[in-house]
Amino acid sequence: MHHNPISIKNLSYSYPDGTTALQSIYLDIRAGDRVALVGANGSGKSTLLMHFNGILLPQSGEVVVGDLSVEPRHLKAVRNFVGLVFQNPDDQLFMPTVWEDVTFGPMNQGLRGEALRHRSHHAMEAVGLEPELYGSRNANNLSGGEKKRVAMAGVLAMQPQVLVLDEPSAQLDPRSRRQLIQLLHRLPITQLIATHDLDLALELCPRTIVLSHGQIVFDGITEQVLSNPDFLDQHALEMPLCYSRPYCLLEHQPRAIAARRDGG
Ligand SMILES: Nc1ncnc2c1ncn2[C@@H]1O[C@H](COP(=O)(O)OP(=O)(O)O)[C@@H](O)[C@H]1O
Ligand SMILES: [Mg+2]
Repeated sequence: MHHNPISIKNLSYSYPDGTTALQSIYLDIRAGDRVALVGANGSGKSTLLMHFNGILLPQSGEVVVGDLSVEPRHLKAVRNFVGLVFQNPDDQLFMPTVWEDVTFGPMNQGLRGEALRHRSHHAMEAVGLEPELYGSRNANNLSGGEKKRVAMAGVLAMQPQVLVLDEPSAQLDPRSRRQLIQLLHRLPITQLIATHDLDLALELCPRTIVLSHGQIVFDGITEQVLSNPDFLDQHALEMPLCYSRPYCLLEHQPRAIAARRDGG
C-alpha cells in the first residue's frame, strides 16, 4: 500500500469556455484515509475528482496516483488504481445488462471464468444487489438508486486501491443510504467522498476538505468544520442535521459544545 496514494500539487483547471473550476490545489490523501469533499454547487468537486483517474488531465500542476503521474501513457494503470463512481450513473453504465456492466472493468483487467464470476458476484452483493435478480436487467430500467449501486459494483469489482465517489448518497432512499454508509465503513481502502450529505461526512470521514470557488478553504478535522455555523454559512453550506436538531445534540454533539458543557 502506498503511503500517499494521491498527491496533488498546484493543480489549476479551466474549462474550454473560460470557466475557472480549480485554482492552485494542493492535496495529499494518505493510505487508509476516508476524506469528505464538500462545497456548494459549482465549487469544483466533480472537476477535482475527475483529475484523480485522468478523465481530466492537469492543465498546470501535477496529479500523482500511487507512483504514477496522471498522463495519457499511464491511464490504464491509473484507472486500475483509482476507481471513480460518477455523480450521474447514466454517464457510467453503457452495457445492455447489469452483469455486463459489472464485469466490464474486471474483464478489461484480464479476469475470466470463475475468477471473473466470483469477483463480480461479490461486488454486486456488497452493494445489496442480488446477482440472480439484477444481473440480466437492463440498467436503463432501474431506479436512480439502483443504477448508482450498479455503477458502484462495477468499480468495486475492479478492486481499486482508492475509491472516489461523487455524491454517492444523492439518489438513495434512507435504507439504501444506511447500507451505503455501512459498506463504506467496512471497506478497508482509501476513500474520497464528494457529498452534500454532511451527516454522512460526519459519520464516515474524520477529515474534510471544503472547496469554495475552486479553492480549498479548509482541510482538517470534520467535526471542527461542520460544527462551525459561521464558516459553513460563509461557504454556502449548512450544518449537518444532527447538529442543528437540539434533541439529537444529546447523543451527537460537536466537540466544542461538549467541551463547554463539561467545562473543558
Ligand atoms: N463542461 C463544463 N464546461 C464549462 N464549465 C463547467 C463544465 N463543467 C463544470 N463547469 C463549471 O466549473 C465549475 C465547477 O463545477 P463542478 O466541478 O461540476 O462543481 P461541483 O461538482 O462542486 O458542483 C462550475 O462553475 C461549473 O459551472
Ligand atoms: Mg459535482
